[in-house]
Amino acid sequence: MCGIVAYIGNKKSSHILINGLQRLEYRGYDSAGLAFISEDSKLQVFKNQGKVKDLDRLIDHKKINSHIGIAHTRWATHGVPNNTNAHPHYDNSKNIALVHNGIIENYTVLRTKLIEKGYTFESQTDTEVLAVLIGAIYEQTKDLESAVRNALIQVEGTFGIAVVSSYEPDKIITARRGSPMVLGIGENEFILASDASAIIQHTRQVIYLDDNEMAIITKNHYFTKTIYNVDTNSEIQEILYNLDQIEKGGFDYFMLKEIHEQPISFENTFRGRLLVDEGNVKLGGLRNIEDKLRNAEKIIITACGTSWNAALVAEYLIENLARIPVEVEYASEFRYRNPVINQNDIVFAISQSGETADTLAAIKEAKQKGALCCGIVNAVGSSIARETEAGIYIHAGPEIGVASTKAFTSQLCAFTLLSLYLGRMRNLSSTEGMNIAKAITQIPSQIEEILQNSEQIKKIAVKYSKSKNYIYLGRGYNYPVALEGALKLKEISYIHAEGYPSAEMKHGPIALIDENMPVVFIATRDEIYDKVKSNIQEVLARKGKIIAIANYGDTELAELTDDIIYIPKTLPMLTPVLSVIPLQLLAYYTALELGRDVDRPRNLAKSVTVE
Ligand code: F6R
Repeated sequence: MCGIVAYIGNKKSSHILINGLQRLEYRGYDSAGLAFISEDSKLQVFKNQGKVKDLDRLIDHKKINSHIGIAHTRWATHGVPNNTNAHPHYDNSKNIALVHNGIIENYTVLRTKLIEKGYTFESQTDTEVLAVLIGAIYEQTKDLESAVRNALIQVEGTFGIAVVSSYEPDKIITARRGSPMVLGIGENEFILASDASAIIQHTRQVIYLDDNEMAIITKNHYFTKTIYNVDTNSEIQEILYNLDQIEKGGFDYFMLKEIHEQPISFENTFRGRLLVDEGNVKLGGLRNIEDKLRNAEKIIITACGTSWNAALVAEYLIENLARIPVEVEYASEFRYRNPVINQNDIVFAISQSGETADTLAAIKEAKQKGALCCGIVNAVGSSIARETEAGIYIHAGPEIGVASTKAFTSQLCAFTLLSLYLGRMRNLSSTEGMNIAKAITQIPSQIEEILQNSEQIKKIAVKYSKSKNYIYLGRGYNYPVALEGALKLKEISYIHAEGYPSAEMKHGPIALIDENMPVVFIATRDEIYDKVKSNIQEVLARKGKIIAIANYGDTELAELTDDIIYIPKTLPMLTPVLSVIPLQLLAYYTALELGRDVDRPRNLAKSVTVE
């Protein structure tokens, strides 16, 4: 949510900053801006509403001779998207400029105090308050570092910031609390960003700032300290992915690329972990808490959005294989409802980005209540990965498309591994374990098979693309897939869609069904197949249009339905990994047909770092 990039070094900064913003645009795209310090130490700001390419057009790169700058792409929280509310924001002297991710919660109090002292504001943003406050303190201290530090001490809420000033023109100051900042260390240059994807083409050596840590960066040097002025010693780490993983690689959209990556990303999640011959799993990230897992009395899984849908599948998996009771909680609700957490309970937080503010807050709440917190995370080194005591990285690789796809299937893989691991610690036999392990190894080629059917799914998407509403239905393991299918369609095509357990339909949603309502049934062959078939009959009786996801060879269902998409057969517990693929493609091709910007759906941003 919002992206920051900053550069200091020997190269011209304008192209580097625009390029960095383009890489971060999936984090926010309602406005963008830049601030440069020119060679004669002047501070210049350019910003406007719209996309990064609009900002690029505004800048005459030939005329900008600068080697220091900060930049921002915005997803509006306080104040509508317009030129004034776009970042960077100035202090009142217009000698300090600041970009900010996060939310300053006490901004009205700070703003009122500043107005009483005679300071003025141009925008409606919380960010400008911080910029003006830093400027006000600078008037007293005449030192940028202490002005930033003293301002941040007064701030309640979250921030990832970068500051430049013509007062001290050879310096960038950054700091974070609850919003990621990564410092890339190059040769005589530094690239700072809220996300490593804007850094990787310059250097792989990075420092992930900790909460309440700041870095003071000049061309040849940097040092870190807390905002309370205590020196810190941050470890330099290496970015683990490659540049081609964050490029489209011949696909029109990141989302389509990521859908097609799933045979590999799924395999990367279980590679080196699955012990097929023993019917067991090796999970290095949980080794230190093995005893606690053995004695776990309850597991609480907390997450948001697609990750929450994966958690619902996990509930079925863990209870089935390991017989441990599981509760699934929306992270955004968790901390506000005083949840009961006992000594032997274990909390798992799931997050693709590892930066979701609600999920982070839920972890902090659980820790406060004395719970052991584990993470199931994609982004290595992210806040949730660092905030949790143990965990499993899903290794899906960077996910850039705003609608999550490959992270979901890798989360399901990680949960299957976890359930198998917990099950084998308890009553699950090695024979059962081996069956599951073998079925997991077959999934990548089965996903591949479904992807080859893309043209048929595209035709179905086009056929129903004028529909105003959709219903998705599934039972058992496929119920969360119905939720996920509906979420994907809503997010990128803006068609209203609801997911339900199939049998719930008759308790209300059936009233919506008529000849204009496409109903997607996930009707794979398992022990509740016949019940789902009855639900299909109920929809048919009301003239609803049926799109079924079924197993190859199901001719009986083909006769009942308007359209049928076949998927290979696997164990019921692994079916969600296969049944979700046609639904991802259905959403993608529907959005494409409707001319939507698939990778940048309106109002959404990847990684929701505000509560
Ligand atoms: C849906 C989607 C969101 C995220 C949610 C949680 O396609 O991308 O619903 O799943 O914001 O994000 P993470 O998993 O990064 O915590």
